[in-house]
Amino acid sequence: MEIRFLAQSAVMITDGDARILVDPFITGNPKATIQADELDPTHILLTHGHQDHYGDVEAIAKRTGAPILAMVEIADELAEKGFDVFDPNFGGTVAFDWGWVKMVPAWHSSTTPGGTVSPPAGLLIMVGDRLVYHLGDTALFSDLKLIAQRGNHVNLALVPIGGHYTMDRFDAVTACEWIGADEVIPIHYDTFPPIETDAEAFKSDVENATETKVVILAPGESHTVR
Ligand code: NI
Ligand code: MN
Repeated sequence: MEIRFLAQSAVMITDGDARILVDPFITGNPKATIQADELDPTHILLTHGHQDHYGDVEAIAKRTGAPILAMVEIADELAEKGFDVFDPNFGGTVAFDWGWVKMVPAWHSSTTPGGTVSPPAGLLIMVGDRLVYHLGDTALFSDLKLIAQRGNHVNLALVPIGGHYTMDRFDAVTACEWIGADEVIPIHYDTFPPIETDAEAFKSDVENATETKVVILAPGESHTVR
């Protein structure tokens, strides 16, 4: 399984024929290294409706025909526009031929560019036998521990560290302690001035406090999850 960090919270997870794109904010993303029309996902997942996550979802889905998984209210908005959707809510699991996605809580807010208000989510993404936990945008909350320890072991967690709109890099260390993933990739930082932070300091803080290895990816870089 390979994961490519596309900047902000956007990642592409590739395993066999599955190409799973999460939170595709490319156009207007000052850190993006590619164009949205270079992406060819088989499935698109959204954590919530904010523009820095919703991004190019409509254009990419229209061009590729990829179905979109999102919180039910966002999925309803997309379905009304003619898109193929999966519409879970918290606690729900959607099965795919490559694995499954479980929608879990996040502490944040969410409105789509079209005005749909709904709760924001995190996503547990099982691809083959590797579990990726994309936290979405969230503050630190103690149920992160419950979510991570309830079921399968989390191999890789994608953790926001930029502060201001989400947990900062200090709260994110505690999140990493609670989640207990093998590896963490920091996300949602340095894209805009309010969320600038020191990812290297986060990495050394986590690696001093836990057994978790932190993998810092520059936008466009990939990492293989073994
Ligand atoms: Ni947000
Ligand atoms: Mn965001």
